[in-house]
Amino acid sequence: MPGIVIVGAQWGDEGKGKVTDLLAEQADLVIRFQGGNNAGHTIIRDGETFKFHLIPSGILYPGKICAVGNGVVIDPAVMTGEIEELRHRGIDVSGLRVSANAHLIMPYHVKLDTAGELKLGSLEIGTTRRGIGPCYADKASRLGIRLQDLLDAKILRKKIRAAMEPKQQMLRPFAKDPELDLHTMVETYLTYGHRLEPHIADTARLCWEALDADHTVLFEGAQGTLLDLDHGTYPFVTSSNPISGAATIGAGVGPGDIDEVWGIAKAYATRVGAGPFPTELADDLGDLLRERGGEMGTTTGRPRRCGWLDLVALRYAVRLNTMTALAVTKLDVLSGLDPLRVCVRYRHPEGAVFDEFPYHQSILHTAEPEYEELPGFEGDIGECRREQDLPSEARNYLAFLSDHLGIPVRLVGVGPGRDQVIWMGEEAPRLRAAA
Ligand code: GDP
Ligand code: IMO
Ligand code: MG
Repeated sequence: MPGIVIVGAQWGDEGKGKVTDLLAEQADLVIRFQGGNNAGHTIIRDGETFKFHLIPSGILYPGKICAVGNGVVIDPAVMTGEIEELRHRGIDVSGLRVSANAHLIMPYHVKLDTAGELKLGSLEIGTTRRGIGPCYADKASRLGIRLQDLLDAKILRKKIRAAMEPKQQMLRPFAKDPELDLHTMVETYLTYGHRLEPHIADTARLCWEALDADHTVLFEGAQGTLLDLDHGTYPFVTSSNPISGAATIGAGVGPGDIDEVWGIAKAYATRVGAGPFPTELADDLGDLLRERGGEMGTTTGRPRRCGWLDLVALRYAVRLNTMTALAVTKLDVLSGLDPLRVCVRYRHPEGAVFDEFPYHQSILHTAEPEYEELPGFEGDIGECRREQDLPSEARNYLAFLSDHLGIPVRLVGVGPGRDQVIWMGEEAPRLRAAA
């Protein structure tokens, strides 16, 4: 399994952190390739909870090389904070490598993110307000500050000045903000540079070396397919490409280096922030899913919107990512619900039927889900460890997904704990979780 990409198949928070942690056991290198600290990836090991925003979810294996690729945008305050916290908890971070080419989130990006949202008012995107969009915008405008710029005070000062210049008007309300004082910014960021320097590396080269030696590289995606800047529900998306193809650009490898693409999907659907969500349940059932699934944002603490599984959107994600396997998480949350509903097509109020994910924004906004009903299951499945331990209705539900999507379900989550998984199919032993 040399090159494996892990992608979110829905709107984020599918359980990518947990799956990455599980697969990382057999990987030699784990690399994040896009997004920033808008991500929040949770791992629960032996009752201890870890939440990662920037550091790859493989870091809990001592000494494992965990890289932050060039495609990631880094808030150095968050990254140094995360390193400190891990050290404090006794975690070895010596394997952390960070691309010198990764762009940095600056204090003005964070201010502009919030200001932009306030300006949009009721049309807001519901961003995480971490400065992600403005940072990627500067990258595209070639006004970005990269990690390597922190190693030279003169260059840093020049680049910050040039980046702020065209933003004068937008930044006027923050004119007296001490955080945006050029001198303060340069000094603060030089300090971050000093602290991150031991981790700076040519991360693309690390990937090549690992792949050429037939080692396994895990590409850890953040966010999810429907938040993709190009293929998601624009403009209610993030500012990077969370799909599998972006792993090549964000890590610096070629398409031929990717052997498998694992899509991670919940057994139902959630979304944080604004934007279309055809299967949303704005009722008691939605509240029940939120409560049972603990559906509160890992990064912002906002309640997640909840709904039934959307197979139209998931089929789209399977194709876009050339997904080879699916991990279905949080099956336990559906226990006791009967019937279980899955959306198999959309219907427009004027009667048109959509078997495929519509590209037109207004259709998506008005699309009504058409459901297929499947029998529900009961009882606590949190202790099931083999496929045959699951109630037959739960197995039918998984088989229905797999048949409909045309790819195997390889892993099923039955609880938040690291061991609460079922490896499906014949190849399970090769990817078995640690005892
Ligand atoms: P990520 O952003 O994709 O890594 O996902 P998050 O960590 O933001 O959100 C997933 C949440 O679901 C976390 O709180 C996990 O601990 C939890 N989780 C993951 N898998 C399962 C599962 O199979 N069952 C339950 N009940 N919780 C799970
Ligand atoms: P993980 O990696 C869920 C959402 C925000 C908002 C939109 C744009 O934990 O799955 P941004 O701050 O990126 O400009 O916000 O994207 N969003 C996420 N939703 N999980 C995430 O990450 C997300 N990262 C961003 O809520 O709707
Ligand atoms: Mg998350």
